[in-house]
Amino acid sequence: MQASRDQWSSRLVFVFAATGSAVGLGNIWKFPYMAGENGGSSFILVYLAIVFLIGLPILCCELMLGRHGKRNTMNLFRRFNRDYGTSNQWSVIGWMGALTGALILSYYSVIGGWVIEYIFKAAGNMFAGVSSEVIAAQFKSFVADPMQLLLWHSVFMGIVALTLAGGVRGGIERAVRYMIPLLALLLIALIGYNIATLDMGTALNFMFDFQPEKITPAVVLAALGQAFFSIGVGMGAMMIYGSYLPEGKPLLGLTSVIVVADTSIAIFAGLAIFPVLFAFGIEPGQGAGLIFNTLPIAFGQMPGGVIFGTLFFVLLFIAAWTSAISLIEPMIAWGVENRGWGRKGATWGISLIVWLLGLLTVFSFSDLSDVKLFGKNPFELIDYVTSNILLPLGGLLIVIFAAWILPATVAREEAGIEPGRDLIWKTVTRFLCPAAILIVFYHSVF
Ligand code: PHE
Repeated sequence: MQASRDQWSSRLVFVFAATGSAVGLGNIWKFPYMAGENGGSSFILVYLAIVFLIGLPILCCELMLGRHGKRNTMNLFRRFNRDYGTSNQWSVIGWMGALTGALILSYYSVIGGWVIEYIFKAAGNMFAGVSSEVIAAQFKSFVADPMQLLLWHSVFMGIVALTLAGGVRGGIERAVRYMIPLLALLLIALIGYNIATLDMGTALNFMFDFQPEKITPAVVLAALGQAFFSIGVGMGAMMIYGSYLPEGKPLLGLTSVIVVADTSIAIFAGLAIFPVLFAFGIEPGQGAGLIFNTLPIAFGQMPGGVIFGTLFFVLLFIAAWTSAISLIEPMIAWGVENRGWGRKGATWGISLIVWLLGLLTVFSFSDLSDVKLFGKNPFELIDYVTSNILLPLGGLLIVIFAAWILPATVAREEAGIEPGRDLIWKTVTRFLCPAAILIVFYHSVF
């Protein structure tokens, strides 16, 4: 697909692309460790509430702005200025989003690189018959070697740039149609294996036992950030995907499909990982290495583990890849459409900057691990600022713009809000979403 105002060949291709953007490392790598760090169920239940009450309506607004404006995320607001007299200042949503996407991709690519390394580890039968300590040691020595991380980070960014520059992405997006369901099936198979061989009780309690006293402002902020990150809302990726979407079909239905798919995969990932974690006495709050320290144990013990493990990491890589391309699409579209750069030049130039930024994450697990700001190493800081501040802030501006500034008829037509439901839609988008984000921000600061 080119950056000019091409359209998706069908609505279905759009659903695949948008689902491909939503489903990624956020669901399988990040969700379990965030849940582990934030007390399990308290985090997960707040997360689910936020996804459906706040994430879903804002995603719908974001897609709606894109489809209605049919411009890249920077030019969109100039068009609204022309058509509806809204202020040009709203372009800040586009600028901030493009920056957020580049920052997220800088570390996303490094973690994508870890996944590539683990494809080879799994295929090389490195997990069979080894203890959980050996698995942990394998991971530790891998991330402590910046040259290895650099290599795979470069490979990942290279693949992303090639995809975006070479226009082969249509094929990738179509592949999502089979890959995401296959990934979901594989997770279900892992859950089945857990049910057959391990005790599920502790994990289920950890994930779903309602303990309101454990819900602190920090947990709620983390859940908010994770919800935005996982459905991919707040930085304009979905806006730009919406801008390639033909008129017609109401967006609310499409949005629900994406959100339900995304959330199911995150919950499946939790159910695949936590039973293994408790069975082997692994620390849930250990951070970014969690899936690399748990799933290989299961792959190492199950029959056919080499095949399952390899397939799992391949599918996870594909999921990460289809998310990654959406993270810099807004910037590239801007370069091509506003600056008149060639598609190739824009892609390689921007990818190079993102690659350089990624070095901060590469070294965060070795040389820079003790360089801390607010108690966080560079990777943790970039992750925290983008997920917990920039994405929700972007979402806040998007929902305010869509609900208060644009004429209400736009939402009615684009989202497909029936007259009887208008009041619910307005209450949610005008009051509930902005208020919820503001309250979370307020409590996190004070
Ligand atoms: N949603 C993606 C994931 O879960 C990441 C992403 C964030 C993609 C923001 C686009 C925008 O991995």
